[in-house]
Amino acid sequence: MATSPTHPPLSDRIEQLLEAGGPLPVVAAGDPVLRRVTEPYDGQLDDALLGRFVAALRETMLAAPGVGLAAPQVGVGLRIAVVEDRARGGREALEARGRVPLPFRVLVNPSYEPEDDTRAAFFEGCLSVPGWQAVVARHARVRLRAHDEHGRAVDEMFTGWPARIVQHETDHLDGTLYLDVAHTRSLSTNEAVAEHWAQPTPESAARELGFELP
Ligand code: NI
Repeated sequence: MATSPTHPPLSDRIEQLLEAGGPLPVVAAGDPVLRRVTEPYDGQLDDALLGRFVAALRETMLAAPGVGLAAPQVGVGLRIAVVEDRARGGREALEARGRVPLPFRVLVNPSYEPEDDTRAAFFEGCLSVPGWQAVVARHARVRLRAHDEHGRAVDEMFTGWPARIVQHETDHLDGTLYLDVAHTRSLSTNEAVAEHWAQPTPESAARELGFELP
C-alpha cells in the first residue's frame, strides 16, 4: 500500500514509539484503536524491530503490572500480544482460578476455539480500563493456534487462568474488550473488589449484585 506523509509506514511509527525507551503509554478505553480489528502480522517489521517492539510490550506489561498486553493497547493495530503470569497470591485463590505460572510468550496472529462447553467465571480487569473489574464467564479450556515471534507454529491447549489470559488478549486483537463479554452487573471498582469480593470465587458477588454464574 502506498504511504503518504500523514500516514508514515508502521515501522516508522513503531520506531518513534520506542524512541523514548521504558514502558510505553497504555491506551485507555474510548480510543478507537482498541475497537479496530488488527492487521495480521505478515513481516511488516524487520526481525530486529519486531524483537524490540515485543520487548517493549513485555516491559510495559510487567511495569503496569499486568499478565498480558495486546499491541492495540499501545496504539499499534497489529495482531500481536504478549502474556506472562508469575501467579503470585494466596494459595486458595490461585487454586480456585487454576492460576499457575504462565511463562512469557509472544502470540503472533493468535486465534482460539473452545475445547468444550465448560465455562469458568471470575473477576478480571484490563490495563485499558484502569480501576475496574468485572466477572467474565470464559471458556475453561481453549485450543490456541498462533505463531511465536520466530515464526514457529503454536497449537496448544490452555486451561485455568492461562486460558482466560489468552482469550482476553486474543479478543483485544479483534477489537473486543472484556467489558463486552462481562456480566455488567458485576462491574466493581478495585476498591470494591478488595472490600467485598476478595473471596476465591464470585458466588457471593453473583448473589448480592444480581447476576448468574455458569
Ligand atoms: Ni486487556
